Amino acid sequence: MPESPRTSGDRRLYVFDHPLILHKVTILRDKRTGHKEFRELVEELAMLMAYEVTRSHPTVEIDVETPLTKTRGRTIAGQEIAVVPILRAGLAMESGITRLIPTAHVGHLGIYRDPDSLEPVPYYSKLPTDIAEREVLILDPMLATGGSTVSAIDTLKQKGCRTIRVLAIIAAPEGIKKVHDAHPDVEIYTAAVDERLNDHGYILPGLGDAGDRLFGTR
Ligand code: PRP
Ligand code: URA
Repeated sequence: MPESPRTSGDRRLYVFDHPLILHKVTILRDKRTGHKEFRELVEELAMLMAYEVTRSHPTVEIDVETPLTKTRGRTIAGQEIAVVPILRAGLAMESGITRLIPTAHVGHLGIYRDPDSLEPVPYYSKLPTDIAEREVLILDPMLATGGSTVSAIDTLKQKGCRTIRVLAIIAAPEGIKKVHDAHPDVEIYTAAVDERLNDHGYILPGLGDAGDRLFGTR
């Protein structure tokens, strides 16, 4: 178990409290933040979150030769990582994390929310062939009703994945509950647990529509 971020009573829910993360989330929420800065912040936040999430990853000692002498150093060991962004908004998180973990393989799951029912509609899936052997990090900036994330976890479990963690920048209590009711073994890592959903399934206070703010589509 990582020493940080903090758990919040529920050991499957980790809420980051690093000052850099809190600072960047506040700028992300601000309606005056433009697309370019928004994208950069999502990438940076994903990188900082991955840094914390991998804190407990095992390492092994290996030989290394510096320009001056031979020595021993530590290198990452254990289960290899796959990152799975949920399209569209998860893409910006993916680019941040693969800068930090360049050996991670990347799977893509396309899921959108039906605007009326708010039910998830899967439309695309392309996953690494060895995904079942890997530790999977699901990436989506927003965990709102939880429908999209539950759908992604269902798909990954059907492929045989056993270690799945969810990284969401902002999460609603409703979405956290839905994920843990459906998949009690899955850990959620988030920078903020917000108040609630509004009548249209948007997180309050939230940051608005993550996809639109990332890609300038509205
Ligand atoms: C947003 C967001 C999540 C989903 C969260 O995607 O990026 O994937 O909603 O909502 P949920 O927890 O209620 O399922 P959206 O459906 O707007 O698709 P997009 O990324 O293509 O804009
Ligand atoms: N999707 C978003 O992009 N924002 C929300 O608040 C809820 C779902």
